[in-house]
Amino acid sequence: MTSFLKSNIDAFLPVINDWLHRLLPSENDKPELVHRAMRYSVFAGGKRLRPFLVYKAFKWVGGDGDIIFPPACAIEFIHTYSLIHDDLPAMDNDNLRRGKPTCHRVFGEAIAILAGDALHALAFKLLAETGNAEIVYETANAIGSNGLVGGQVVDVEMEGQNVDEETVYYIHSRKTAALFTASVRIGAILAGASEKQLISLTNYAKNMGIAFQITDDILDIIGDTKKIGKPTGSDIELDKATYPKVIGLDKSKKVATKLIDKAMNSLLNHRDNRIFVDLANYILKRTN
Ligand code: IPE
Ligand code: IPE
Ligand code: MG
Ligand code: MG
Ligand code: MG
Repeated sequence: MTSFLKSNIDAFLPVINDWLHRLLPSENDKPELVHRAMRYSVFAGGKRLRPFLVYKAFKWVGGDGDIIFPPACAIEFIHTYSLIHDDLPAMDNDNLRRGKPTCHRVFGEAIAILAGDALHALAFKLLAETGNAEIVYETANAIGSNGLVGGQVVDVEMEGQNVDEETVYYIHSRKTAALFTASVRIGAILAGASEKQLISLTNYAKNMGIAFQITDDILDIIGDTKKIGKPTGSDIELDKATYPKVIGLDKSKKVATKLIDKAMNSLLNHRDNRIFVDLANYILKRTN
């Protein structure tokens, strides 16, 4: 990670974490159990890359002020809800997330499902409070049955199956890239982006999001549990549809590199794109 990207992330993390704290219900509010579970999973760790993208897209278009933080938190709440549900025994059946026992291991399955549901609902409340229906629409579209949920459905359906590269691309573009795309789009929309800016950011996030999931697939094989904060070998155990399964590790790295190049090219003709270029490079080489 470049020092430019690191200093930007280091400056962002305490701010976004403070907003997340303020926008989540207190552990003392009734029903305490679900509020504890929500806060547990949000603050277990997490790189906060999606809210970072919301914020940077907003700034890049020329947005100013604190209005961007509640929608940025909404995206992190949706992401956290998707992780809680992804880890459930009925889905990936994982015991470790963000370096801590998964939500259902601590609170039980019923409360984990409900904590995810409540984070999802809280996210849409925050998006609606902006008064901008377009960002509510963008987010709903990105995470529904043609987006994140659709990708998760095919991910589960394809366990143990013979899959081709096209199917894995389908899964990754929906289960992962769709939320990255929504992140840059809602940040940009709230800053009044032009169509040209929106198209460039969309192409950037889509390609970068698929590459992000490919590096996740690779880290599931060669990563360090201490660094990724989740178990390795989980995909092989469930015979998941991943890039390494279909084309092998080396070719997967090459595909990810190509997608990252594509992502960077989509912002080439714009000024002040350094943060996005550095982020794309980090995603290719990340170890966490
Ligand atoms: C994990 O996302 C889920 C995938 C889409 C691969 P992150 O790697 O961004 O998870 P956190 O938020 O940092 O825990
Ligand atoms: C995650 O895919 C996609 C979503 C959570 C929507 P994975 O199942 O590969 O993510 P990890 O590896 O558990 O974080
Ligand atoms: Mg999964
Ligand atoms: Mg998983
Ligand atoms: Mg994974």
